[in-house]
Amino acid sequence: MGKKINIRLIRAFVAIFLLVFWSYVISTGFMLYFTKHLAGTTPILFGITRAMWKDLHFWFSVIATIVTVFHIIVDWKALTANIRYLIKNQ
Ligand code: HEM
Repeated sequence: MGKKINIRLIRAFVAIFLLVFWSYVISTGFMLYFTKHLAGTTPILFGITRAMWKDLHFWFSVIATIVTVFHIIVDWKALTANIRYLIKNQ
């Protein structure tokens, strides 16, 4: 008598995590782009050095990529339905 998994709740959380983590990737990416002239040892935001922001940027990207894979899995039906719709209506 296991508890039924609420797929809609999972989809909703995955969608929010997608927005949050890709926003982190993009904002840290832009921050790194506009601070290219600075050394890695320079603190650029919240007292965190550029080198550490690079590491954070990388790990945010890893998480965002994993969440994207989950997103494709849990929304697979919707994805294939949309592709079928596009193919049928071209
Ligand atoms: C899956 C997505 C991404 C991955 C895996 C990723 C990975 C990385 C890694 C590993 C670095 C460090 C490179 C180094 O040590 O020089 C880096 C740097 C950087 N990334 Fe990303 N990144 C991603 C997305 C983005 C996006 C969306 C942007 C733009 C908004 C961006 C902009 C930058 C910039 C400007 C740097 C600094 C390069 C430098 O200092 O010369 N990245 N990224």
